[in-house]
Amino acid sequence: METITPTSTAATADSYRPALHYTAQDTWLNDPNGLIFHEGVYHLYYQNNPLGNVWGNMSWGHATSTDLLSWTEHAVAIACDENEDIFSGSVVHDRHNTSGFGSGSVAPLVAIYTSAFKPGSQYEGVQAQSLAYSLDGGYSWTKHTGNPVLNRGSAEFRDPKVIRYDGGAGSYWVMVAVEAKDFQVVFYKSRDLKNWELLSTFGPANATGGVWECPDLFPLPVDGDPENVKWVLTVNLNPGGPNNGSAGQYFIGDFDGTTFTSASTVTDGLQDPGRLSEYRWLDWGRDYYAAVSFSDAPDNRRLMIAWMNNWEYANHIPTTPWRSPMSLAREISLQTSDGNLSLVQRPAGDWTDLADAELFRLSGTTIHDGVQVLAGAAGTVQRIDVNFTPGSAEEFGLILRGDGVKGTRVGIRPGQATLLVDRRESGRTDFHASFSSIDTAPVLAKQGSYDLTIFVDRCSVEVFAQGGKVTMTELIFPAETSTDLAVYAVGGAATINSLQVTQLG
Ligand code: FRU
Repeated sequence: METITPTSTAATADSYRPALHYTAQDTWLNDPNGLIFHEGVYHLYYQNNPLGNVWGNMSWGHATSTDLLSWTEHAVAIACDENEDIFSGSVVHDRHNTSGFGSGSVAPLVAIYTSAFKPGSQYEGVQAQSLAYSLDGGYSWTKHTGNPVLNRGSAEFRDPKVIRYDGGAGSYWVMVAVEAKDFQVVFYKSRDLKNWELLSTFGPANATGGVWECPDLFPLPVDGDPENVKWVLTVNLNPGGPNNGSAGQYFIGDFDGTTFTSASTVTDGLQDPGRLSEYRWLDWGRDYYAAVSFSDAPDNRRLMIAWMNNWEYANHIPTTPWRSPMSLAREISLQTSDGNLSLVQRPAGDWTDLADAELFRLSGTTIHDGVQVLAGAAGTVQRIDVNFTPGSAEEFGLILRGDGVKGTRVGIRPGQATLLVDRRESGRTDFHASFSSIDTAPVLAKQGSYDLTIFVDRCSVEVFAQGGKVTMTELIFPAETSTDLAVYAVGGAATINSLQVTQLG
């Protein structure tokens, strides 16, 4: 990532501040860190600059939620100092006090984070893994005096995600981290979180366009069957995503306690750029990065949050005093369709309390060539459920946060089997040359029609297509007055079988 000095952002930003997505009150954030559900509370730690709204002074900020939809910000959890920046990592509940950080009957929460050692410090230039612990349920943290606990002498060794492995090979802690520039996930094992032994490595494989960052490893039942479990390895990379810049890919396979074996590797070794669309992407949009899952989520749910931004322009988005939202929390499952296994995602929160009376409904409506504004459907925080059947139009869809004709287009090109998010006329795009874009993802019709669920939240659009098998997440910066919802078609007609707009927040 780059470090740059703040530029003034003229826009009055709080028309951009999302209602349902977490933002720090008045500072910068990037990756979600240490996601854990503990004693009835979801904890979201995150890469935070406590002193500004561009990247720097990396520390762990902290927010909590009980419903994954509204968040409370707390004091900085783990702060940088003269020796180290606190880079990304994870938190585990050390139930049996294997680390010895516990006290009396209190089992500790242990954070495993990357120490990015600063010039002049003892380990200058090195990235190594360190520990901190909390005895008050995650609100205050003490750094371990024996840090770092895992040092390979590498300048690019970061982002430890620790899980409790409990399987055929025994019961112990497993760390996945990256050697970022080698496109390698490294697997380590420990009994006490302090002493680590190398198990294996994975990669390079599939997308290797930039550096590999922020891995995660978790088991998931196939189609809900607890007797048929596969392991998923997620790897974020930057740049090199399917629509440029930051993105996350995943592999499906097996983990035997030592080695991850991928069944979804398309290209072993360095990437074949022509095959980008064959890789498995967590999200095809420009703004879904550093995705990672919660430890100890209730009911064995696998819940993920990502940073909703892209390193290409992250420090420049026109919000102030805060900068960067998190994505909605998503529930992840593994499902078979047409003989293929893929991740399926859906928004995780319980929306029922948030929804106002249903706002707008259409069915069996033809969209003609051009743009038609839907009177009575305007809004800035909405859930839209729509089902289209293609007709003669080469492209059709919705225009969100519009002012009549201009806005953000979420459309389908049936001839190319693609979903698109076109933000070239979405509002402010002038703050960075690479922001204005039209981005695509492969999407298939189901029984001849296309189903989309879209969440609009002031400065963002999250599209769940094909029942959540394909998702696209993008930031937008529309004028406060651009609130129209319209439908459009290009070069012919299409049919809306059903459209339902629910106002949220
Ligand atoms: C990913 C990342 C991580 C690193 C952190 C630093 O966005 O580059 O690899 O730990 O951000 O803020």
